[in-house]
Amino acid sequence: MRRPMIAGNWKMNKTPAETVALIQELKKIHPRTNVEIVVCPMTVSLFAASAQIKGSELHLGAQNVHFEDKGAFTGEANCASLKELGVEYVILGHSERRQYFAETDETVNKKVLKVLENGMKPIICVGESLEQKQTGITNEVVCLQTKAALCGVSTAQITDCVIAYEPVWAIGTGMTATAADANRTIAAIRGAIKDMFGYVAENVRILYGGSMNDKNANELMSQPEIDGGLIGGASLVAEKFDKVVNYSDR
Ligand code: 13P
Repeated sequence: MRRPMIAGNWKMNKTPAETVALIQELKKIHPRTNVEIVVCPMTVSLFAASAQIKGSELHLGAQNVHFEDKGAFTGEANCASLKELGVEYVILGHSERRQYFAETDETVNKKVLKVLENGMKPIICVGESLEQKQTGITNEVVCLQTKAALCGVSTAQITDCVIAYEPVWAIGTGMTATAADANRTIAAIRGAIKDMFGYVAENVRILYGGSMNDKNANELMSQPEIDGGLIGGASLVAEKFDKVVNYSDR
């Protein structure tokens, strides 16, 4: 059985003080199912977040990390520091990082391996652009991104990996993939993991992300292949995030 996960990617929002305030609100959320809730604040807000979530049901995630252990990489953060702060998950390969910060399949793969080596779990983002979707190569694109990211991962490690299918054209646009389309693409991603790791792919969680919110969470989550959501905008408002977390009540 795959435990559902709802993760909030706060992107470049919420100062440390604002982070504390939002987490205080989120701590009041009572998930009525077995869903795992993850919050991913900015790197500079992780310290404040970490203290605030102690003893709660919330899990802590980061939005990026460097693949080297330490050294002359001005402005970067390493895995050891995230780990020390109590970070459990690290979002990797988000399309905004691929687009604006020259993240490639190769750097994503290096980061995946480093995160696992440090005892944390990667949330690996894959997704097609609008042009790729219109050309009809969605499955090829997302399966290649998935396989490239997982190169060198062991069979023992694969169930610590979470994949997030985020169609680039759906992020922050209000447009979502239809639940059926998202389900089909996620099934293809699971097939790619099966090619590499065999049947254990059935235990790997694959999330949907891209304008998922309090209104559409239930429909998306009712699909058999969709194991959770990576939520942007709707994760910044406690009331909306609560409704996404309690998707099954709707
Ligand atoms: P939105 O939910 O704002 O579309 O963002 C999705 C996303 O990029 C999550 O990582």
